[in-house]
Amino acid sequence: MTNIYAVILAAGQGTRMKSKLYKVLHPVCGKPMVEHVIDHIGMLDVQKIVTVVGHGAELVKETLGEKSEYVLQAEQLGTAHAVLQAKPILSELEGTTLVVCGDTPLIRPETMQALFAHHEKQQAKATILTAVAENPTGYGRILRDAQGQVSQIVEQKDATSEQQLVQEINTGTYCFDNQALFAALKQVNNDNAQGEYYLPDVIEILQKQGEIVSAYVTDNFDETLGVNDRFALSQAEEFMRARINERHMRNGVTIINPATTHISADAIIGSDSVILPGVIIEGKTVIGEDCHIGPNSHIAESTIGNGTSIHSSVVFNSRVGNETSVGPFAHLRPESSLGNHVKIGNFVEVKKSTLGDDTKVSHLSYIGDAEIGKNVNVGCGSITVNYDGKNKFKTIIEDNVFVGCNSNLVAPVKLEKGSFIAAGSTITKEVPEDAFAIARARQENKLNYVSKLNSK
Ligand code: UD1
Ligand code: CA
Repeated sequence: MTNIYAVILAAGQGTRMKSKLYKVLHPVCGKPMVEHVIDHIGMLDVQKIVTVVGHGAELVKETLGEKSEYVLQAEQLGTAHAVLQAKPILSELEGTTLVVCGDTPLIRPETMQALFAHHEKQQAKATILTAVAENPTGYGRILRDAQGQVSQIVEQKDATSEQQLVQEINTGTYCFDNQALFAALKQVNNDNAQGEYYLPDVIEILQKQGEIVSAYVTDNFDETLGVNDRFALSQAEEFMRARINERHMRNGVTIINPATTHISADAIIGSDSVILPGVIIEGKTVIGEDCHIGPNSHIAESTIGNGTSIHSSVVFNSRVGNETSVGPFAHLRPESSLGNHVKIGNFVEVKKSTLGDDTKVSHLSYIGDAEIGKNVNVGCGSITVNYDGKNKFKTIIEDNVFVGCNSNLVAPVKLEKGSFIAAGSTITKEVPEDAFAIARARQENKLNYVSKLNSK
């Protein structure tokens, strides 16, 4: 078994993005490009992953965390110079080194594996992943000799007009014999249009030494897209979105309109769930089976049980149980947790609160910093008054409580088991178990008063 190592190039600023954010951190389907690359590599049997960082080094390291080792390229002198920075970690090792750019988030692990298999089979010292592009502008072109063997890669800016007609491009992904790579890197110079040390020059160096240099042509150019500007970023987003949606559909999820459905790379959705148009599902959200995720719902970093419906609503960093119904037009803010068979109706906002099984808040309420038990009914327009302008306070509502419409529950306050709050009450004191609380002005009827007023 050959040992495999990976080097990810992620030190560039990404000038063409015209952004304050370093290029490789721009998200595609909600995840930074370079993290897609590293996650794909992580699916292969790789002994070591080394990421070359430079611009935004700290932020890149923070984003990728333990998924990689890091080397610093203090000055960005080119892709060959970038790989050379991994020398202290890799140069003594035997095996194959996979080099991938941090700005090619779409290359699938299967394709990297096929590249590696081809490299092994050819017993090559270097194998380039290439593709045929309809419009190859901007990419390095693959030059082949009369026998069809790869001889050189020429960059766009160094290519003659004839070479620019070549449609076979360098995807920026390669397999190298590790030791041959580091030996050849020493010989790369920067005598070219950009004054940079080009990694692709290693190909010509090895070829001239009589080593076997090979290319593995993938038939899917879209997958090899390198993101250099915002237009390419939008294309990458589109390809990735289509790929993610297809995976869910093949797993048994119905997506009514994939073109308007945005699901993050790391979301999980159970079978027979239906996703309606305009839905955005972000982060590591988990949605169970048989759910109905309504039009234009936005769900991030949340867990939704089975058979639950989220209709035109926003759910952030929350948990929702089974057979629960949320919306339309509800907002679950972070750290909310709903049990099973719960109903959150229209224009209800829930923040940092737990609601037990079978509890209902059906209309026009604000529930903040509350702990609500099972089978509680919170009437229309009821509010937890959780904030005095300085501090937040907790509301506790125990099982089987009935809160009448338009009640204000001034926290800190507790409504004990089975108590009943009359509509329109402003509750400021604890309500004991089984008690009926009424806290509103008594009604007074002034008889025959309206006509009296009118006659004045
Ligand atoms: C590079 C290839 C080109 C290929 C294309 C595929 C070179 C010289 N050219 O061109 O043949 O067709 O990728 O997408 O390699 N980086 C560093 N340090 C540096 C320079 C770059 O870490 O000093 C990193 C960048 O952050 C980026 C990657 O290397 O992730 C590629 O650099 P980029 O400038 O985008 O190269 P391209 O011009 O796209
Ligand atoms: Ca690039």
